[in-house]
Amino acid sequence: MNEDLFAAAENAIAGSLATQDPDYPLFHVAPPVGRLNDPNGLVLRDGRYHAFYQFSPFHPHRKLVYWGHASSDDLTHWRDDGPAIVPDSRYDADGAYSGSAVLDGPDVRFYYTGNLRHPDGGRDTSQCLVTSTDLERFDKHPGNPLIPVPPPGYTAHVRDPQVWRDADGSYRMCLGAQRANETGCALLYRSNDGIQWWFEGELSFPDAQGAFDAFGYMWECPSLIRVPDEASGEWRDVLVFCPQGIAPLGEGFENIFPCGSVIGRLVGTELRDTGPFVELDRGFEFYAPQVVARQDADREPPLLLAWLGNAGEDDQPSLAHGWVHTLSVPRELTVRDGRLVQRPRLECPARTSMQINGRQLRNQRVELVEARGVRSFALGLCLDVTEAQSWSLRLGAEDCHIDLAVAQGRLVVDRSTTRYPHGGRRTVTLPETPTIELDLYFDRSVLEVFFGRGALAFSLRAYLSEAPFVVQLTATGALGVMSATISPFE
Ligand code: FRU
Repeated sequence: MNEDLFAAAENAIAGSLATQDPDYPLFHVAPPVGRLNDPNGLVLRDGRYHAFYQFSPFHPHRKLVYWGHASSDDLTHWRDDGPAIVPDSRYDADGAYSGSAVLDGPDVRFYYTGNLRHPDGGRDTSQCLVTSTDLERFDKHPGNPLIPVPPPGYTAHVRDPQVWRDADGSYRMCLGAQRANETGCALLYRSNDGIQWWFEGELSFPDAQGAFDAFGYMWECPSLIRVPDEASGEWRDVLVFCPQGIAPLGEGFENIFPCGSVIGRLVGTELRDTGPFVELDRGFEFYAPQVVARQDADREPPLLLAWLGNAGEDDQPSLAHGWVHTLSVPRELTVRDGRLVQRPRLECPARTSMQINGRQLRNQRVELVEARGVRSFALGLCLDVTEAQSWSLRLGAEDCHIDLAVAQGRLVVDRSTTRYPHGGRRTVTLPETPTIELDLYFDRSVLEVFFGRGALAFSLRAYLSEAPFVVQLTATGALGVMSATISPFE
């Protein structure tokens, strides 16, 4: 290992002011210093969750991309574990790019992309292996890169390996790729030992009527995962991926690059019986998710974490304290009515009922007093909206706040008064239901909102002001508050 790069990152962490920032989250993974992007190598080992992530400790000065490492017993309190993979080899000198973890007896194997830029603007891309037994020391495989070049017919944009063990014990790898004709796709490789790989072919969609044949110019961070159906218990195959260059389709797809999923049935290299491509999260910031590798993956619903950021949107207030971006909370995935559902899975302190529990509000604004002064909390509301013309929830202060306003079945999220420089307002059509179940996770400068027990997710960064923080619920017409609970995080 190149001690200089490791020590330089550790020094940057030691001198960091990030955690003194009032915007630094308490229960979301954020970088100890510098920039974080995609989650990487998520793994549950010996009862502890490990979240690795794309980590640029010297951001914005040097564009060196490491893997950072945080770990947690409860998915709520995260400890920074320092740099894990250091870009100190000839094949990853311009970045130890995204990848995933696979459990292998006493070891964890991490597959990632080595990125190397040429002076003429071109790049080499290769797939590499790092092994760890104690998750403190990470050894690069002497045979790296294991897959030194993309297969013929594809450009140098082949990256982000997701690796899993098949039922027959063989290893499979799914990679994001760009064809020579500059359309995006996913590639599949197979291996008997996880070291020697052969190219199986492109992932194809025989029942999709060509919908994915020219779907954007590059696919990043694809994952093929298995997700149980809530009603039947049957496991479905789901491709989660981020196609770059998709035109907005009316409502939705408003972020620079979208992230979505397709449900189907994986047979060899074919994803059969596919449904439509559906965005995972309708919020302003959400990208490059992956699920946690675990021993009991065939029994437990997968847990997904995403990057709550977008390419090209690093100019955020937190840079004054030397850090930028966070991951999402872990979300348990299931399929309900043919759609992917995401429910937050983190251990909150017991939720307590709020004063408005069981009340009816009529043309009224109430302050959810329990939240005063608390800037990290989970809030659960179940509302009867049958007789409400509109209702809204405001978080923050009078002059700097986030508004969630619902009228005629449409949600408008407005953060235009906050200190966030990108994307002020967004409209989302909500499913028509007489009751609205709302689970809201607010953590200093991050907000994740889930409607209908995870049927619709909306994530955003939300830089508010130092002014007293309140949560207000406003009703026009009659709004029934069937239940209201809050759990503050300390
Ligand atoms: C997605 C991505 C990946 C790449 C990584 C580099 O955000 O562009 O495709 O591996 O970030 O940091």
